[in-house]
Parts: sequence; C-alpha cells; structure tokens
Amino acid sequence: MTSSFVRIEALRAHVGRVASVRGWVTHLRSSGKVAFIVLRDGTGVLQSVIVKNNVAPEVWERFQQLTVETSIAVTGELREDARSPGGVEMSAVALEIIGPSPTDYPIQPKEHGVDFLLDHRHLWLRSRRQRAIARVRNEVEQAIHDFFYERGFLRVDTPILTAAIGERSGLFATEYFDEGTAFLAQTGQLYGEAAAAAFGKIYTFGPTFRAEKSKTRRHLTEFWMIEPEVAWNDSNDNMRLQEEFVAYLVRRALDRCAEELKELERDTSPLERVVPPFPRIAYTEAVEILKKKGSTIQWGDDLGAEDEALLVEDHDRPIFIFNYPKEAKAFYMKENPEDPRTVLCDDCLAPEGYGEIIGGSQREDDYDKLVQRIKAEGLPMAAYGWYLDLRKYGTFTHAGFGLGLERTVAWICGTPHIREVIAFPRLMNRLAP
Ligand code: 4AD
Ligand code: MG
Repeated sequence: MTSSFVRIEALRAHVGRVASVRGWVTHLRSSGKVAFIVLRDGTGVLQSVIVKNNVAPEVWERFQQLTVETSIAVTGELREDARSPGGVEMSAVALEIIGPSPTDYPIQPKEHGVDFLLDHRHLWLRSRRQRAIARVRNEVEQAIHDFFYERGFLRVDTPILTAAIGERSGLFATEYFDEGTAFLAQTGQLYGEAAAAAFGKIYTFGPTFRAEKSKTRRHLTEFWMIEPEVAWNDSNDNMRLQEEFVAYLVRRALDRCAEELKELERDTSPLERVVPPFPRIAYTEAVEILKKKGSTIQWGDDLGAEDEALLVEDHDRPIFIFNYPKEAKAFYMKENPEDPRTVLCDDCLAPEGYGEIIGGSQREDDYDKLVQRIKAEGLPMAAYGWYLDLRKYGTFTHAGFGLGLERTVAWICGTPHIREVIAFPRLMNRLAP
C-alpha cells in the first residue's frame, strides 16, 4: 500500500495523525529507554522517537540493528515540534528495515579530501550540502526556462554530434560512420543562429564539451550552457538582455532558495546588489586600468583570471568588458566598424572571484568578411557552407551569448570549485563515477 507512505516535505499536513515514512538513516541516538532516528528522504529530514516501553520488543530490537544509511520505513503519530528539523516529530510504533547498510559507509562525519569525495560522488550526493546545491541548481534551471518563456523565446535543441567547430578550445572527436569525424559540440550557437533567422528569438540549453587541459576551479570538460540568439539585436541590446537575465536568476535564487543558501553559509548581501545596469568597460580602457594596477598585459592579449580579478575588485556587481581584439576571440564575432582591430563582443564577469560567466557577441553578418575569418582561422570551409547561407539568404543583424550554468550556480552558492555544482562532474582526470 504505497499510497499510505508520505514524503517528509508533506508531513506537516499529517500532524495529529499516523503516517509512514521511508528514507535513509542519518543519525542514531539512544539512552537505553528512548531512541532517536533521524531520517532523510531527499525532500526533508525527520526525527522519529522510539520509547522502549511503548513499542513491541521486536521494534526495539530492530532499532539496535540500524546503522547510518540503512533504508527503513517508520510509522507513527506526528507531533508539531518547533525544535525538530522540518517542525514535526514522529512517535514511532513500527519500524521496518528495507536495506541494511554495512558499517563501512565511506563518508563519515569528518573532513575528507576532495579526491576521496569525488571518488565517492555517488554517495557524497546524499549530504545536506550537496542537496542544497542541487536544489539551487534546479531552481536556477527552472528560472532560466521561465525567463525565456515569459519573453516569448523558443527553446531549440541543437545537436551534440557536429561537423562544424564553434570555439577555439579543444575538441572531443569520434568516428561517425562514413561521414568522417564528428565533434562533440562546444556550443549550440551556430545552429542557434539558423534558428534565430527562422523563429526570431530562441535559446538553447544543453551540454557542451571542451577538451581543455585546464585544471582550474572554473573548468569542466562537460558543462551546461544556455545560449539565446536574437534576430535584430545588436551588441548593446545583447548586454541589456544579459544583465536582465543574470539579475533575474540571482533574484529567483534569493527568493526561493533562502534555506539552501543558509545551509551553504552563503553571505547573500553581495547577491542582493546584483541589479542592472552592470558597469561596462571597453577592453582598451580595461588594459589601461590593468597597467595602472601593475599588470603586464599588452593590448591584444586576452584577459587572464588575475586580470579579471583586478577589474572586478572595484565593483559591487557583475561587470561587462566589451569589444576585445579580434585575435583574442572566435571567428564569428562582428568586426567593430569604429575600430576594425576589435569585435563587437562582451564578457560578463561575476564578482567575488568567480570570473567570466557569460561570453557574448554580435555576429558577423557580412558574407565576405565571414569567409575571410573562416580562412584566417584555418577552419574547414566545407563544414561552414550552411552557416554562410545565413548571410547569403537575407542576412540580418543578430546577437547572442552563452551563460555557463555551473559557473553561475557556483557563484550563487558561493562554492569555491564548480565541480561541486554538477551531479557527476567530468574533469580532465575524472570519468567516473
Ligand atoms: O565564452 P564561451 O566559449 O562562448 C561560447 O561558447 C559562445 N558560443 C557563446 C555564445 O555566444 N552563444 O563560453 C560561454 C560560457 C563561459 O562564459 C563560461 O561561463 C562557460 O560558458 N564555459 C565553461 N564552463 C565550465 N567549464 C568550461 N570548460 C567552460 N568553458 C566555457
Ligand atoms: Mg569566453
């Protein structure tokens, strides 16, 4: 009779009645006459009390067999109890062991090294902290869909197996029948541009892959990216959409994940300040600022993580650095008519050391200039025929950006490394679990 089991999140409605709950033991305590079981089911935490004299001897006996992570079913009357987690407590009268758990459960209530925890990621996910992070991520994902849905964007799912290369970073390749080599998508953008010409305002939301040999706290080899693409938007419209979007996501997490952010001990005051407009600094000006601060950067170099940190420290919210040198950026960015050494693009840098969360640009809409850029980058022209068609048949001003989900969620949660905000991270040296 599964219908009589209640999820912990719904227990408040059952106060004063008897209910059954299933879950995993997280804590056990006994005085010899009274025993306490703290139970977790993913939706919440429940404390059950067993009084030896009030229960059948076999129930008391079963309690003695419990270990942490044993899966059990408990039945009893629910009482309001302000001191209990979740605000209710159960007086248990029945206890069933569903699945015992040997006492060598790898994750103990002590400090473990991160490699050990990652090796046991399938079990580490059961911790309160990981649950809080997963819930923030889920809220942010839902907010992303709501943001675009409310604004009339169409979600378009783009392929993961691709022939055309989007970004400069490393590629994962695989043999593809008689078609030669397929690459795991680094971006959905090129397809997003085709869809923008067809549907006007679109976004993609999918996994993307970078065979990057970088072992930093900001890099995964597989991460999730959200890429809107908007017909008739220019670079300024693009930045306005980005700041509205980022502010919306942060607000939503603050409003709906207060408990989770508290669990994560996140100081939310810097997040409260994330409201548009975000400061905008031209790349050329940024180089001047950095030189004054002692950086060795030269005009033409891409910004390193340290440069980004130096720029962000003067501001209390995310900032835009716009119009980078052409050589530092991808082939599809539109040449800046006012300074052809640069392209119409921006990076959005998060505060508190989280760095680039968005890369965006207006796209090159001139057929010949785009052909030149594809050649200059040494990209295989044949793979871009369809992409060039977008400039041949009714070319159009358009712009878009990519927001990295894990970097954004890590920043909102205040977790130092992005590997913690995806259930099963893929890193250079990690393919399991
Ligand atoms: O700046 P990127 O490379 O831009 C693009 O891929 C464009 N096609 C986006 C567009 O215009 N449609 O990547 C965008 C964002 C970065 O700002 C970062 O947040 C995230 O994706 N990102 C990564 N996140 C985790 N691990 C990595 N290795 C990442 N590489 C990029
Ligand atoms: Mg980038």
